[in-house]
Amino acid sequence: MSADAFRVVGPARLVGSVVVRGAKNSALKLMAASLLATGKNTLLNIPHIADVEIMAELLERLGCTVVHDTVAHSLTINVPEVPGHKADYDLVRKMRASINVLGPLLARVGEAEVALPGGDAIGSRGLDFHIEGLRALGADVHQEHGYVIAKAPHGLTGATIALDFPSVGATENLMTAAVLSKGTTIIENAAREPDIADIGEFLIAMGAKIEGLGSSTITIHGVDRLNPATHSTLPDRIVTGTWAFAAAMTQGDITIVGGRAEHLEIPLDKLVAAGAVVTTTSDGIRVKMDRRPSAIDVATLPYPGFPTDLQPMAICLNAIAQGHALVTENVFEGRFMFVNELKRLGATITVDGHHAAVNGLPQLSGAPVAATDIRAGAALVLAGLVSEGITIVEDGYHVDRGYPDFAEDLRSLGAAVTRV
Ligand code: UD1
Repeated sequence: MSADAFRVVGPARLVGSVVVRGAKNSALKLMAASLLATGKNTLLNIPHIADVEIMAELLERLGCTVVHDTVAHSLTINVPEVPGHKADYDLVRKMRASINVLGPLLARVGEAEVALPGGDAIGSRGLDFHIEGLRALGADVHQEHGYVIAKAPHGLTGATIALDFPSVGATENLMTAAVLSKGTTIIENAAREPDIADIGEFLIAMGAKIEGLGSSTITIHGVDRLNPATHSTLPDRIVTGTWAFAAAMTQGDITIVGGRAEHLEIPLDKLVAAGAVVTTTSDGIRVKMDRRPSAIDVATLPYPGFPTDLQPMAICLNAIAQGHALVTENVFEGRFMFVNELKRLGATITVDGHHAAVNGLPQLSGAPVAATDIRAGAALVLAGLVSEGITIVEDGYHVDRGYPDFAEDLRSLGAAVTRV
């Protein structure tokens, strides 16, 4: 299903409605968490994206049977009594979320060997919090020949773990390891992203005892075993935010069906500051813009701050806004890599360390560019919509990893976007 490139004819105004499916960053972790219970887990509202297929293959290599119904958007994962424990390099390198099998495998099988992950080129993305946390739970963890090797043959024991930074992946790995530990685990400075609460709710449905989801302190009382469960994935707030920015950038009017405003308070406030009218409807969010956006300063922070995954969209909006803006990236140091691509469209941006100063122009000018990661790829497609002429976004496979049917959705909103 990969596209090599997106061909975008601009300028365009997006009008209509789109449906947002389950969040990639939840779905992949829910799939990994399924390993914690023998038997058939059912996950609903699963997006049809490339990364789900990669995680399905990873689980199958661990002995699971995975059935993906792309029409019903559901996934069943049948987990054997004793899953395998090795996640190979050829799959793990394709996707950062593969590291999420580490905690469940260690808790379930007592050992795990997971290749050092790949994923988007957006910064150094260490694993030290994951490793230190699992050690605190009593695991023996080391790196060898490109693999993280973790062993806990006698099981894990609850502990208090204070994270230096509220890392999403580390919070998830530690929570999914702690649910089958002896005693109580407390994760302090835990990430508060809605994805974490979603995974926690699934674990609770399996029989886990967890308190404090959505707060900075998560308490987990270990249980002996978990049972398979059914869970519906929460809607993707980053895809929702992408459509919200798309409406504001193109002076459009988009109803985002399934979008949850409560997960995007700061980004939506920013769009209101830019001049958009944002309303909550019975089934989603409507974003309408009648004029050229005003420039908006943005600083990314862990949830509930402005999401780093929407930072490229904020830069693109500012590139065609009235005025100047400063965009500060506080989460991933490599996340301005796509700025050089945006400059090919004529954007005037100066990057200094983790700050980008953007000087808005009335319109950009279509050109060939390349996607550097999922979100940058989607943002560059949006930039093509506010450019005069044809923009080709190469390496479109990045976008497929996070946005189901992106070109089809854009066409349904009136844009001339095709895959080439
Ligand atoms: C997840 C999301 C990603 C999102 C990010 C922040 C998935 C698959 N990806 O990534 O889309 O942009 O959250 O919302 O869910 N860090 C360390 N040591 C560690 C772990 C992290 O130094 O052990 C650093 C990272 O390099 C980064 C920061 O902490 O600078 C945040 O990373 P983290 O929250 O862990 O992001 P991911 O889980 O990788």
